[in-house]
Amino acid sequence: MTDGAPNSYLAATPPMGWNSWNAHSCAVTEGDIRAAADALVETGLRDAGYEYVVVDDCWMADETDDGGRLRADPTDFPDGMAALADYVHDRGLKFGLYSSAGRHTCQGYPASLGRERTHAEQFADWGVDYLKYDNCGDHRGRDAVSRYAAMGDALAAVDRDIVYSICEWGQSAPWTWGRNVGGHCWRVTDDAVAKWQTSPGEFGLGIADILDRVAALDIAAAQAPGGWNDPDMLQVGNGPESGQAQHEPTDIHRPLTHAENRTHFAFWCLLGAPLLVGTDLTDSSRAVLDLLTNEWLLAIDQDPLGLQGTPDRREETHEVWSKRLRDGAAVALWNRGDDPARVRAHVDDTSVPTAGDRYTVLDCWSGERWETRGDLSATVDPRETAVFRVTPQ
Ligand code: GAL
Repeated sequence: MTDGAPNSYLAATPPMGWNSWNAHSCAVTEGDIRAAADALVETGLRDAGYEYVVVDDCWMADETDDGGRLRADPTDFPDGMAALADYVHDRGLKFGLYSSAGRHTCQGYPASLGRERTHAEQFADWGVDYLKYDNCGDHRGRDAVSRYAAMGDALAAVDRDIVYSICEWGQSAPWTWGRNVGGHCWRVTDDAVAKWQTSPGEFGLGIADILDRVAALDIAAAQAPGGWNDPDMLQVGNGPESGQAQHEPTDIHRPLTHAENRTHFAFWCLLGAPLLVGTDLTDSSRAVLDLLTNEWLLAIDQDPLGLQGTPDRREETHEVWSKRLRDGAAVALWNRGDDPARVRAHVDDTSVPTAGDRYTVLDCWSGERWETRGDLSATVDPRETAVFRVTPQ
């Protein structure tokens, strides 16, 4: 345990917000951030719980100042970061920034290794509430734990609560040390891209790939309130919607369909993952906004027990996962195949507490409720996921 012991009251439930990377990548400007803050308010996402507005890579000028301090890019962020934080705060939101535990960010801008105290003080002065801390740049021979602990200590030393999001890509098992260096969440995989699957050698992981990886890692025990396994930011909305894209079984290289968006979001909620929206909210369809604000799924994500969902049964064409909740459990029936399928499940084989013999089932897509004595089977469309909240009576 270092000085950077976790503020467990921060991120008592998984952090929710919006991050610029998946929508704008390195072309981000302060206008995009202000528009995102406005859109979070106008779309109702803020009121649904999405509170952090995080500027990812590329906000910095090419050089630090003489004191090693970070400067905002004078062209893309002419008003500077304190003014941008004010703009975000004025809308009832919180403000986040990005740096890296190396000498440079992934896109080659100055970063924080060796200057942690200076930068943490800058972040606090500017009104930063959330730091995403990446793993790029020259590490100067230092291991991940020492690099991430240095920033954890620096954040703990400033007079401001700052959520510390560790983006180490899961390379050195950050779920075993992230909490001890003050982290509130830690990436467990490579970047998620807006695809169902990627091929070996291709950049990033598709949504199905990430779920395979999370299942294999078997790290649910690392997660609890104040510290979250992070399967990466949401790609929901970054592809054709409403099922316009007819998927071909062999086509794994096109963006997400509506069914895939739903499976993606449902599983991130079942995992109890941080929910960082990554789509351009000024141009989002009703279907995407409805998905991101689904109150039943958000309640599963934000459940106060803070457990991670885990697989109960994994087969080639379908999977059953569940997550224990304060008053029952969430159960997901995922059809991985290319044809509609009956996915069979029974409470006895899931995380549902089975004291009684009657359960109320809430369908998190339709809002319908019914009773069961234990059977939870459902017919599920290709790449869709049925999600039930199951409560013992
Ligand atoms: C990656 C990180 C992404 C994004 C990108 C910015 O390392 O995993 O989420 O932050 O860097 O360059």
